[in-house]
Amino acid sequence: MSTSIAWDERYAGGDFQFGQAPNRYLESLTPWLRPGMRALALGDGEGRNGAWLAGQGLAVTSLDWSPVASAKAAALAAARGVAMATVTADAAAWTYPEAGFDLVAWIFLHLPPEDRAAAAAGALRSLAPGGLLALECFSPAQQGRRSGGPKMPELLWTRAIVEQAFGGLEVLELLEGTVHLDEGPRHQGHAEVVRALLRKPAAA
Ligand SMILES: C[S@@+](CC[C@H](N)C(=O)[O-])C[C@H]1O[C@@H](n2cnc3c(N)ncnc32)[C@H](O)[C@@H]1O
Repeated sequence: MSTSIAWDERYAGGDFQFGQAPNRYLESLTPWLRPGMRALALGDGEGRNGAWLAGQGLAVTSLDWSPVASAKAAALAAARGVAMATVTADAAAWTYPEAGFDLVAWIFLHLPPEDRAAAAAGALRSLAPGGLLALECFSPAQQGRRSGGPKMPELLWTRAIVEQAFGGLEVLELLEGTVHLDEGPRHQGHAEVVRALLRKPAAA
């Protein structure tokens, strides 16, 4: 069974593994964001993305299975003077609130296929009509690069996996290719990623 222990150990130091600035792709989606939107930052780690969204006026739930991560995320939000709820839970097993969010931020969360399917189904359920799902994850071409990402190939994302996992959502943007990452010590340099912005159809 997978556990958060390896992540707890990585996060145990004082440094921020992926920096304190938000993920650049997520930041580039600012024009889509509105104060008051309810956001779920999934696999939010030390909270750089959740705390940034909270700073934009969104009502954020930051979820990670690592209690060390959740504590650091809560501390980051507090240091910035923004309100943010933290949840320590397995993204594959959490009870996602039906239509509870207007945005799900899925940034560099890489799960085994079964868990990925369960978390994706939960994320889909939790999106309100018109809600957005923003995703950046490493693709198979990242293997061998030293700019981050999981070692196990089955954890990587492709356009096809996005389409399969989030079928039913409208594709606003879906790209697979090379970007430059500058995100703390763990994400540095050219990287191969999938980026997606998807929208749940508004209720008829
Ligand atoms: C590469 S880090 C990215 C953290 C954050 N999204 C960011 O971009 O800074 C992946 C995160 O996913 C979390 N994670 C991995 N498996 C998880 C699971 N099953 N449930 C919840 N969180 C998980 C890890 O604890 C870790 O914080």
